[in-house]
Amino acid sequence: MKDSLPPRALLPTLLRTLLFPLLAWLGGIPGVVGVGPVHAQALPVDVLHWWTSASERRAADQLSAHLLANGVQWKDAAIPGGGGMAAVKVLKSRVLMGDPPDVAQLIGTTLTDWADGGLVLPLNTVATRQKWTQGLFPTVMDLVTYKGEVVAAPLGIHRINTLLYNRRLFARLGLPPPKTWDEFEVVARKLSGMGIKPLAWSDEPWQMATVFESVLLGEAGPALYRELIVQRKSTAWMDPRVEQALTRLRWLRNTSGDVPVERTWPDAARELWNDGAAMMIMGDWAKGELMAWGASAEKDFGCVAVPGTQHMHLYSVDTFAMLLSARQREATQEKVAEVLAGAPAQLAYNRIKGSVPVRRDMDVSSLDACARDSWATFAAPRSARVPSLAHRMAADEATKDAVAQALWRYLSNPRMEATETQRRLAAVIRAPNADH
Ligand code: GAL
Repeated sequence: MKDSLPPRALLPTLLRTLLFPLLAWLGGIPGVVGVGPVHAQALPVDVLHWWTSASERRAADQLSAHLLANGVQWKDAAIPGGGGMAAVKVLKSRVLMGDPPDVAQLIGTTLTDWADGGLVLPLNTVATRQKWTQGLFPTVMDLVTYKGEVVAAPLGIHRINTLLYNRRLFARLGLPPPKTWDEFEVVARKLSGMGIKPLAWSDEPWQMATVFESVLLGEAGPALYRELIVQRKSTAWMDPRVEQALTRLRWLRNTSGDVPVERTWPDAARELWNDGAAMMIMGDWAKGELMAWGASAEKDFGCVAVPGTQHMHLYSVDTFAMLLSARQREATQEKVAEVLAGAPAQLAYNRIKGSVPVRRDMDVSSLDACARDSWATFAAPRSARVPSLAHRMAADEATKDAVAQALWRYLSNPRMEATETQRRLAAVIRAPNADH
């Protein structure tokens, strides 16, 4: 008996493999919006992605159910690891071995390398048929378009500059959630005085980089942020506002004590949920996770923009690319893109994932307050929409990893000066062919 899984652990697998397909076949899964009857002979597609937390898994199941109702069977090839660190490596090795998945979570600028290699199925036909240019946000359309070809199906827009806070603990303090760093410091001091950790933190390099870019946006403002991250001007990295962002990052990290804590992002979110910490700075997938655990965005937690980033949207857009292979699944892959970018799948998936629909032609009033604010900020003409470096929207995999590594070294060594890290960042981020 020792080796057998407890019944609770078996449940998700049973649901996925037996119950969900059966219910979908019978005409609909409870909670799955707009899923109709299933086609008799579903065509399989192999889907490689990195969604393995509770909310990510449920969100992927929604996509899978929508596909099944449209005659496509999702064969799951999930690779655990927040931010896709491991998934990207597995994907590369599968492609090198001549066994690419039919569908892969490939996001941001990394898409272009794959498209340049001729490995990605262009989706222009689907995009034209579904009028993506009219229906999708222009920023999203730009992200999935490369050299005139549509190279991926967009799934959802995450907001990175999200500060989640525990409503119970804030009610006890009698303080509003902080809008400025001064307010944040007041709250942090009060919390520490009560023996409560102000911030749920993890020393995983990609999570540090995720916090850093939000802090940087707040300190630098959108114009300098673009010079640093989009134009990748190395001279701009010596700006005193970058030093200020690094100093603040170290201060934030130190609110969690001296001992390094490398833990997964759901583990950090768990601390917020358990009243062990009062706030968390993370992409809004952490909100999806809290909701998957039963938390309510009205009662249990709230979210505001990271101090200094009001009316700014630091985005990461999740996308699936359709990879070419000897299997020749083009028609089915086009179907996948069409179903996933369609309004019913968009609403059902994003509601769970914590992100917001990629379409500007949708009614999002049924989403939670954080999502509505994210969508409205992304849509507003006057907002600043800036891409996430930590999540591949602005630079390739190697640059993003080098930045995360530089930040990790800075935070793990209290003697390292912010200015030394600025020099390091300037060097690793230097745009290819840059002359500055
Ligand atoms: C991001 C991705 C999100 C979420 C997060 C944590 O890169 O866009 O969908 O999965 O990583 O793993």
